[in-house]
Formats: sequence, C-alpha cells, structure tokens
Amino acid sequence: MHLRSRRSQMQQTIYPSDPYTFIKHRSYAHYLNCWLPVFLQTRDTATVVDAFAGAGIYSQGDPGSSVVVAKTLLGHSRLQRFRGTLRLLSLEERPDRAAELERQRQKVPSAAQLKWRVLPPGSFAENAQKLRDYTHRENDGDPVLWLLDPYGPADLAAESVRACLDSGPRDEAIISFFSKEMHQRKTVSTWQTAMQRHFGTNSWRTVLDHQSQPEGMTALVEAYCSDWRSTGLYASYFAIRVPNETARYHLVFLTHAERGLECWTKMQRRIDPVLGRGASPASIDAPTLFDGIAITSTMVEILRGYAGQEKTWQQMRIDAMQAGQSDRLLRAGLQELRMTGLAFRVEPLEATTPWPEGCTVRFYSEADLRDADQAEFN
Ligand SMILES: C[S@@+](CC[C@H](N)C(=O)[O-])C[C@H]1O[C@@H](n2cnc3c(N)ncnc32)[C@H](O)[C@@H]1O
Repeated sequence: MHLRSRRSQMQQTIYPSDPYTFIKHRSYAHYLNCWLPVFLQTRDTATVVDAFAGAGIYSQGDPGSSVVVAKTLLGHSRLQRFRGTLRLLSLEERPDRAAELERQRQKVPSAAQLKWRVLPPGSFAENAQKLRDYTHRENDGDPVLWLLDPYGPADLAAESVRACLDSGPRDEAIISFFSKEMHQRKTVSTWQTAMQRHFGTNSWRTVLDHQSQPEGMTALVEAYCSDWRSTGLYASYFAIRVPNETARYHLVFLTHAERGLECWTKMQRRIDPVLGRGASPASIDAPTLFDGIAITSTMVEILRGYAGQEKTWQQMRIDAMQAGQSDRLLRAGLQELRMTGLAFRVEPLEATTPWPEGCTVRFYSEADLRDADQAEFN
C-alpha cells in the first residue's frame, strides 16, 4: 500500500491492521500466557497497563491490544485456578478511539478474574504518575506489565519508562522500538531530538556509524538494551520482520526478574523456534524444517566470549535468556565447547547430568589450547 494512503487511513478512528500487528499481538499473548499464572495463582492482583491502547479493533475486525490481553486471560487454560484478578487499564489519547475501545470492552464477556477499565482519554505523559500510584496503591510489590506501544520514539521518553520500572520490583515493560524509522531518519534534527529523549543518553548516536540498515537497526536496539542493562535491569529484544527476514521494528522487554526473562524467552522460542530472535508474517506459526534441531551458533558465540573466565549457571543463563536462548540451547552450547576442550565443569565434582543447574564452568580460548599444545613440543 502507498505510504500516504496508509498514513491517511491511520488518521481514522479505526484503520486496517497488518501482519506486523498480528505478530506483535501474538508476542503479547504468548508472554501473558506465561506471566498470568505466575502471578494470578498466588497473588490477589496483577495489572496490565495498555498505555497506547488504540481503538480495540481494526477495520477487518481484528482485535486491538487490550482485547488481546483480555481474551488471553479469559482463554487461559488455568483460568479456573487463578485466585487473583487481572486489572487491565487501557489508556488512549484520542477521544474517538477511547470511546470505540469502551464499546469493544463492553462486548468482551465479564469474568470474576478480569477488571477492565478504559480510562478517560489522555496522554501517557499526563497520566503516568497517576497510573503508577494507582497500580501500586495496595502494595509496591504488585506486578505491573506496561505495554508501551506508541507510533514513534517521540511519544516515549526514557525517563517515563524509568519511572514506570522504578515503581516496584515486579514492574516490567514491553516497548515497541522503531529501529527502522530511527535508522532512516538518523540525520533529521527532529528525530535526533526524539531519539535523545527516547534513549535518555547519547547511545543512539551509534546509528550514525551505520549506513547499512540492518546493521544500524541492530546497533540501535543493542545500544538501547545495553543502556537499560547498565541501570540494573534485564533487557531483551525480539524482531518483527518483513518476509525477507530483515527487521521491520523490535519489541524490547525490560524486567527486574529472572522469572520475567524466562517467560519472555519462552515467548521467543514459541514464535521463532529456530533462533528465538524474531518472526515475520511468513515464518510465524509455520512448521519449520529445523524442528527438533538445536541451532547453537548464537549460544556458542556467547560462551566463547567467556574465554579465560569462570561462570556460574545463573550468570550464563541470564546472558542466554537475554539473547533468546533456552536452557536446552545453553546445555547444547556447553556440550559443543566441552567436545572441543574449551569448557569444563568445575563444580559440582560429581553430577548425574553434565550441566546441572547450579554448576560452575571454566572457559578457555582456542589460543589457550594452541599455546599449551606448542609448549609441550618446545
Ligand atoms: C500503535 S497505536 C496502538 C495500537 C494498539 N496498541 C494495538 O496494538 O492494537 C498507538 C496509539 O496510541 C495513541 N497515542 C499516541 N500518542 C499517545 C500518547 N502520548 N498517549 C496515549 N496514547 C497515545 C494513538 O492515538 C494510537 O491509537
């Protein structure tokens, strides 16, 4: 579709969906499928704030993000075992869309486990503080998942994201990250100002070193995640790709908790069983030629980077999950390095499996092997 006609369509209250939106919604649904039972089986309340909620419906009839969240809860296989309530708070700036969203809300069946409110129309920036206070009013530890899905970086400042994540130890965010547009407009001054606010640091400037779009996009999302990691959060990202496999944009996930990373990695491996890094309209839900085969290249690269160090299972697992790699791939990668003499289990001394949880592993480089080999001949 021509860009201008797509833009003018998007001015309407309800506009057409597209396959990328479908993948984004699938990612939310798979993440929630794991997140909901973690909290609702044990706690009274968990909250999803859909802060850029849209109208709740697309012109072909596809559901919007808040409806996806509600239906993921209502269709959850363990719904009857949830003792807690999901509070869903939907915020949309445009009054026409907020009104349509309210109509869509009324069509969703009610259930004891769901308390869904469409908030009066308003911007995220104006409402963020109120939302943070409201979602933590009973207990700072109540889990909150912030869905931050603006149209572009200008609508989402790093300091607002920081404030949401700082509200409590179980606050997490899924952020739509417009790596392609940021790369395309990297020299436009209004975009540079927007990127500076979006990152809250100068790290976005890495994009200026990359003419190649795929490399520039990856450099941007890596820099964004690395900034968040340097503040003590875990960060991971997932590419929403076009069918030729280059990324269209990214979803960035931020959490304080290993548990959150586990759910995110599960989502990544469900949607992209081969590499866990992204999905395109052509690959999502498609049976893969690689079913059952572990592709260990990403994991092996991470493990090789540990040469000269000792790592605990937990340290390796966190690095693995932040790169979309499962425990199975971590073990397969360790085994591959073990076979070439580059990784050894230091602890425990005795174990029934080669790489048990809690093990410590020592890593060597190929140069270590070579030097030792030559030393013997001298
Ligand atoms: C990408 S669309 C949301 C799509 C929706 N999350 C979904 O997946 O179905 C972004 C929405 O955010 C709204 N919006 C833009 N700026 C906003 C702001 N600062 N605060 C709240 N909503 C905003 C727009 O009107 C638009 O409906």
